[in-house]
Amino acid sequence: MTDQAPDSKLPESKQPAVARPAAPAAAKPAVVASPARREFVVSWLKFAWIAFAASTATALGTCLRFMYPNVLFEPKSSFKAGKPEDYEIGMVDVRWKEKYNVWVVRTVDGIYALLGVCTHLGCTPSWLENEQKFKCPCHGSGFYKSGINFEGPAPRPLERVAIRLGDDGQIVIDKSRKFQQEKGEWNNPDSFLTL
Ligand code: FES
Repeated sequence: MTDQAPDSKLPESKQPAVARPAAPAAAKPAVVASPARREFVVSWLKFAWIAFAASTATALGTCLRFMYPNVLFEPKSSFKAGKPEDYEIGMVDVRWKEKYNVWVVRTVDGIYALLGVCTHLGCTPSWLENEQKFKCPCHGSGFYKSGINFEGPAPRPLERVAIRLGDDGQIVIDKSRKFQQEKGEWNNPDSFLTL
């Protein structure tokens, strides 16, 4: 033992110093989050979870998208075009132009279908009823009602597409089969529906 007991015979000023036990440190008060702070943390966690879920869903969607091929949805190349009596003799019918880019022309002998693609550089001509011709807006090529070119830079007539009468009496036009006049293909019976 190194600590000495105070000598009661000595005056207090001569008493040796005695080490006293240190007073216990005051306990730190527990940190209690205020309601506002707790609410902020909860909101932040919610936001983080939503952001995480959204980014995961986006990534998943992108992965799924790669599993499917790129498909271009275009109108079918073959379609029913009504009955022959729906068409007026001598007229160029434009009812299928917007959807299928095809004109249907009724003559005394039958019906043919012309493709609305200029044979110069592929622009889309318009039918001008007053002038009785197809006119290309790009470089001015003109085509007769028959499809034969007569003005402008187009080097050849418009193309016809396959036409036939279906079992139900309706006209069937098939754009996947084309006929070129300069190759003698307008003589093919599939390029003209004889009535
Ligand atoms: S694309 Fe029709 S005239 Fe040039």
